[in-house]
This record gives sequence, C-alpha cells and structure tokens, in this order.
Amino acid sequence: MAAASRARVAHLLRQLQRAACKCPAHSHTYSQAPGFSSSEKTTDYAFEMAVSNIRYGAGVTKEVGMDLQNMGAKNVCLMTDKNLSRLPPVQVVMDSLVKNGINFKVYEDVRVEPTDTSFKDAIEFARKGSFDAYVAVGGGSTIDTCKAANLYASSPHSEFLDYVNTPIGKGKPVSEPLKPLIAVPTTSGTGSETTGVAIFDYECLKVKTGIASRAIKPTLGLIDPLHTLHMPSQVVANSGFDVLCHALESYTALPYHMRSPCPSNPITRPAYQGSNPISDIWAVHALRIVAKYLKRAVRNPDDLEARSNMHLASTFAGIGFGNAGVHLCHGMSYPISGLVKTYKAKDYNVDHPLVVKIINKNYFIKSYIPHNFLEVESRASCMQPLRSLSLSYTSQPIFVNS
Ligand SMILES: NC(=O)c1ccc[n+]([C@@H]2O[C@H](COP(=O)([O-])OP(=O)(O)OC[C@H]3O[C@@H](n4cnc5c(N)ncnc54)[C@H](O)[C@@H]3O)[C@@H](O)[C@H]2O)c1
Ligand SMILES: [Zn+2]
Repeated sequence: MAAASRARVAHLLRQLQRAACKCPAHSHTYSQAPGFSSSEKTTDYAFEMAVSNIRYGAGVTKEVGMDLQNMGAKNVCLMTDKNLSRLPPVQVVMDSLVKNGINFKVYEDVRVEPTDTSFKDAIEFARKGSFDAYVAVGGGSTIDTCKAANLYASSPHSEFLDYVNTPIGKGKPVSEPLKPLIAVPTTSGTGSETTGVAIFDYECLKVKTGIASRAIKPTLGLIDPLHTLHMPSQVVANSGFDVLCHALESYTALPYHMRSPCPSNPITRPAYQGSNPISDIWAVHALRIVAKYLKRAVRNPDDLEARSNMHLASTFAGIGFGNAGVHLCHGMSYPISGLVKTYKAKDYNVDHPLVVKIINKNYFIKSYIPHNFLEVESRASCMQPLRSLSLSYTSQPIFVNS
C-alpha cells in the first residue's frame, strides 16, 4: 500500500480512536489504569505479548485433575453454566478431578452473556469458598465469569468497580497475585482462554464493559476439540463469526507504534495495543483456518476435522486480538445490540432474552479490505474464501456474541 494512503488510514483510525465511545470490551484505546499524562504526546514504541499457556489435543481435558494435583490444589472451584453442567465436557472434568482426589465445589450459575449482577454472584461464591484454584468449563461467558471471581476473591477488600475499565470503573492495576485458573473452552469463538479480558453487561447503564488486565489471564487453556462436537450449529456459526471478526479486526487495527500516548510505566500499556508483527501472524493464520473450515463446521456436527480446526482458530485469533485489539465491527455492534431487547437466539439454551451484537456482513466484506494483506499477498487470494463464506449467510443478519 502506498505510503500516502497508509498515512490516511492511520489518520482515520486515530480520529476514530478519539471520537469513539471507549468501547471497553474491544477498543484498543482503553487502559487498565488511569495513568497517562495528558502532556505526553508521543506514540508508543513497544508492544508486549501476553498469553496463557495452551495445551491442545483431542481428549486433553482428562489431564486437568493431574494439572491441579501438580499445582498442589486442595480446594478447587469448578465454574460452568447450567446447560453445560449436564453435558459431557463438565462430566469429563469432574471425572478427572475425582480420579485424582481433588476436592472441588461446582458453581453452575454462570449467566450466558454475564452481567455485573451475575459476576457479583460468582464473586461471592468464590470469596466464601476460599478456593486455591479454579477451573472454568464453557464458552466466553463462563471463562470471563471465572476470571472475575478469581480476581475479586484474591483481592477481598476491593469493590466491584475498582478493576472495571475506565470511564465506568476505576481501572485500577491488579497488584494482588491471583490463584491458578485452568480454562477449558467449549465454544470456538472468544479465545477467552488466552486473554486478560472479562466482559459483562453493566446493567444500570445498559452498556457492555469489562475488566482488562494481563493478571487475569488463565494459567492454562486446555483446548480439547472433542467438546466442540456437542455445540449446536448456531453456536458454531455465531462464535465462528466472532473468530473471523477478531482476526480481521486485530489484523487491521491501528499499528502499535501509531497509538498514543506512550505509557510512562509499562503497567499502563493497554492490553489492546494495536496491530503488531506477532499478533499479525496469529490473526492471518486464524483467517486461513476460518475460510477453510467454518462452513463445514456449521453444517456437519460430526466433522471433527472442521470443528477441531475452528477450535484452534479461536485460540489463534484470541492470541492475536488479545494483544492487538479489534475495532469498528465490534464497536459499531454495541449500540445496535443495545436495541435488541427480546431476541431469543436459536440454539442458545437460556431463560433470558439474549442481547447479542449484529455484524452486518455486507458492511464487513465491503469495508474490510485489510491493508496489510495488500502488502503480503494478493487480496483476491485471501478475500475470496471469506467472500464466499459471507454469502452463505445472506438470508439473515449474523448475530455474534462479542
Ligand atoms: N474474554 C474475551 O476475550 C472475550 C472475547 C470475546 C467475547 N467474550 C464474551 O464471551 C461471551 C460469549 O461467549 P461464547 O460465544 O463463547 O458463548 P457462551 O459462553 O455465551 O455460550 C453460548 C451458549 O452455548 C452453550 N455451549 C457452549 N459450549 C457448548 C458445547 N460445547 N456444547 C453445547 N452447548 C454449548 C452455552 O451453554 C450457552 O448456552 C460474551 O459475554 C462475550 O462478550 C469474551
Ligand atoms: Zn468478539
């Protein structure tokens, strides 16, 4: 891409950065601490990759009991949602804990699309339980809830808004050590097992916000593709589009060295720092997997190859966007999703209206011409599979969770 048009793109992204509502869940503008001096005008010169340890393999969940034993855990909190508590992923974890003599308590009241109220309920459970380790079995809703429970139980005198992103919360840096958290993702979408982010709806303001700190990253993510065989098609489709958006948006985010201001202390460098050469690798690879396997994964629940690859893609994209951030598609979906009050998402086994975000795939495909792609390979070869992917969903809007 010509230098002049690249500068224009960067200018536009910076304008958006300034004008945007501080979309706390995905904007790369927020910081976990209010520490930037307004007099500092220089752009950043560094980026930092933070990621959980990851173990991937069909059936790897059965190792969780041994992991907890190796950590010396004596009193474990197992978090999940009600739907999953009846499904094999949770059963496999419980069997492993029993087999390895791990004492545990189950919290199955995770709310799908968590709120501050549901976070607080999980936090209270965690504080009362004095747990020395956590296992989260589920999608982003469960893993995020467990991160919050671990954080506030490890910091018993903190108030809820202390760690919530500014401007809604105080965005305090996390200084207390947390307990180990093992995340077992059962959807192929959020990549939450890799990120230091926990997202919830702040009910009184009707906004989605979150907690963002490298400190709340899970200690270990057990990526077991066997769990994806239980996922209903619509969950595969929605969470798969989340992967697509994470990868594409993080790849095209404002480059880290164009983000300002430069933090005066590394603890104030935001989790979402802008695109960077390492995140790019994860994002591009996730895009290739999505292009090849998403349709197959949605259409055929028994296609283990496709579902396994989408599970991996979610992790790839999580590592990318967890450090680079995402932008317009996610940001624009927040106000739209705020208007969706009664929609019941198909295949989502929940007893409350599901507030989801809508990604307009036409906007998506027409507007997202990733400028970096132009530098590394022809747009046609990369975008063609994505275009055909999008066209298979033209009959209805695409709903994604985040
Ligand atoms: N922390 C992050 O980095 C991050 C990133 C993106 C989104 N999010 C958040 O994650 C949440 C969405 O998470 P999600 O999309 O993973 O889904 P989810 O956790 O909300 O679960 C969606 C539904 O699928 C069901 N389900 C999950 N796995 C299943 C399986 N294997 N078999 C059968 N049913 C299954 C659940 O019971 C639930 O009904 C949102 O709150 C979103 O804001 C977090
Ligand atoms: Zn998302």
